[in-house]
Amino acid sequence: MIDLGTTYLGHALRSPLVMSAGPLAEDVDAIRAAEDAGVGAVVLSSLFEEQLEIESHDLDRHLTRGTESYAEALSYFPAAEAYRLGPDAYLDHVARVKAAVDVPVIGSLNGVSSGGWVQYARLIEEAGADALELNVYFIPTDPEVDGSAVERMYADLVRDVRAAVRIPVAVKLGPFFSAMANVARRLVAAGANGLVLFNRFYQPDLDVERLEVTPNLRLSTPDELRLRLRWVAILAGRVDADLAVTGGVHDAVDVLKSMMAGASVAMMTSALLAHGVGHLGAVRDALVRWMQEHEYTSIRQMQGSMSQRAVAEPAAFERANYLRVLRSYALRAR
Ligand SMILES: Cc1cc2nc3c(=O)[nH]c(=O)nc-3n(C[C@H](O)[C@H](O)[C@H](O)COP(=O)(O)O)c2cc1C
Repeated sequence: MIDLGTTYLGHALRSPLVMSAGPLAEDVDAIRAAEDAGVGAVVLSSLFEEQLEIESHDLDRHLTRGTESYAEALSYFPAAEAYRLGPDAYLDHVARVKAAVDVPVIGSLNGVSSGGWVQYARLIEEAGADALELNVYFIPTDPEVDGSAVERMYADLVRDVRAAVRIPVAVKLGPFFSAMANVARRLVAAGANGLVLFNRFYQPDLDVERLEVTPNLRLSTPDELRLRLRWVAILAGRVDADLAVTGGVHDAVDVLKSMMAGASVAMMTSALLAHGVGHLGAVRDALVRWMQEHEYTSIRQMQGSMSQRAVAEPAAFERANYLRVLRSYALRAR
């Protein structure tokens, strides 16, 4: 009997497969189908700071040019308006999903600044969410704002959300920090119970004929997993928080890699948008088959087995390996 169980944000999950925040998580039927296909938990799509009534001074509290970033933030999910729920509908949705499924339901807040909107964390908790994911999506374009101010803003926001709720809080963040490991520790010290690595930043393209910046959102490819694997492997055992992989998880081997690197869960959105929610069942079955063939009896057995602390060659995750990799390519190419 294969045990797919894992623990994430204080909850025992029957499987490490998690549906991450996205359009499917707005649909109660899709969430029910995900539960039938073996999902361990579901993250609802985010309630955005911009959707809530905010006082401008709240926005300015941590960022000198808060309104500039706000305007930018407004446009970063091009398809957002199409399916976003307003605040009241969002809270109703949390309650409806909770009533519909038995797996843990994780609410999601998406923003950049502390302020009145953070109180929605408590309302999401009251609506029944089992945990909260805080997606901090911030593009620091202002040359006057330095890295330490940005990091402080993240930590302050996490502290404020943490103070607002009793349920576990995970922080979803991007990879663009100069000292990722230190930032991870600071966020955990500020109260994060989990880190979700990494946000996929929407990247605008340029239309050279029409001289326009074209917003488009591409689904991920499995190549994107590597960045996540490296940082999960580096952080596993070094931060006192659960780690989640999001970005590039498409099949069972991607899930295995995430677990071995040290993640508690592997999240999926693009793969489910591309193949349908039923894909979760196929991934779960392939996971079980692989584990049987390789004589694993549980997910826990493999978690962290290839983290930086566990592998024979820790430098493989660092610069030391860089030159060797470049050389190996040159030799092959000849
Ligand atoms: C259409 C779409 C909508 C999304 N909406 C949200 C959202 O509301 N909140 C959030 O934190 N992430 C959102 N995401 C990001 C996903 O949760 C996920 O982190 C990202 O797509 C990377 O995982 P993937 O490779 O499995 O797609 C969205 C992604 C897509 C494609």
